[in-house]
Amino acid sequence: MSSAQYAICVLPGDGIGPEVIGCAQEVLQALHSTIDGPRFTFDHRPAGCDAYNETGDSLPSETVEAAKAADSVMLGAMDVARLPPTAIQPLRAMRRHLDVGASVRPARSYPGVPIPAGEIDVVVVREVTEGIYSGIEYPVGKDGACSVRVITRDASTRTAKIAFEQASRRRKKVTAIHKLGALKLTDSLFLESVADVAASFPDIEYETKNVDACALELVRWPEEFDVILSTNAFGDILSDVAAGLAGGLGIAPSGCVGENWAYFEPVHGTAPDIAGKGIANPIASILSAALMLRHIGEPEAGEQIERAVSRALASEELRTGDLGGSATSTQITEGIIGFLGEASAVGD
Ligand code: IPM
Ligand code: MG
Repeated sequence: MSSAQYAICVLPGDGIGPEVIGCAQEVLQALHSTIDGPRFTFDHRPAGCDAYNETGDSLPSETVEAAKAADSVMLGAMDVARLPPTAIQPLRAMRRHLDVGASVRPARSYPGVPIPAGEIDVVVVREVTEGIYSGIEYPVGKDGACSVRVITRDASTRTAKIAFEQASRRRKKVTAIHKLGALKLTDSLFLESVADVAASFPDIEYETKNVDACALELVRWPEEFDVILSTNAFGDILSDVAAGLAGGLGIAPSGCVGENWAYFEPVHGTAPDIAGKGIANPIASILSAALMLRHIGEPEAGEQIERAVSRALASEELRTGDLGGSATSTQITEGIIGFLGEASAVGD
């Protein structure tokens, strides 16, 4: 199927990050023997809170250089909350260094996985370098503080293009999220930039929605949504809502994409309470690896992984604690590898 070989830079990070990324690597490595797919080499690099505690640097420049030089990049999870305020926030810094402006976060329900509302199949496309997470903060007098919400036409346009491209390969609808009543200047600029992009995609249905209304409607009528396009913080929240509706963060993948580089990471955090126990759900990382394969031009291999995951999720024995089961990360990974290459996925 593919004789290609890819060099992947891996930033395992903190908590369960190294465990779940290890599982994703195993699945990637199994592609060659099971489906005659591509081969991989992995270059592990430090980043995150443990790296900061050991070296004083949460994102060493060698890590950034290795990421830029690789064919693609996989991230585990990073404990940004444990970092002191003076440390560089490594996720934000990675996104800026690699110039990856948009995080693409698919959320879909799987046959057999319990969901709290109706079936869902959406992609949240979230701007990840600016907005209220711009990192510009300062005290105001003795008892005040200010965080600056930065919105630029450039970043909004780049993110919107990715959202419309996603929609053109899906159900052809984009919903852009705002809170115009409260954020007049910044969200006017955001919506203006998006409308310009929408004009060049005439076959895509385009609508705008207030963020609070979107949260409510997503819960009540998830089938109404296809691609949700958002500024940084709103997208952070809505992508967790979408993941929750699809069965939880344990199965929510993402990819941060830009012109020259991209990196792929589970949406979940470091889960320190279960770190080191071998019971974390590796599926979000495995599905992120599948997104990476689609991005680097190996769509068949990506699809095979997604089908194998779907098969695994349909089987009650192959569920970790977050999905009501008691399987270990290794059992899930081996189960998925076992399904690789099998003809069709349950429910597809
Ligand atoms: C995410 C995370 C991060 C973010 C945090 C950990 C900084 O919540 O990727 O969704 O919001 O950027
Ligand atoms: Mg988040």
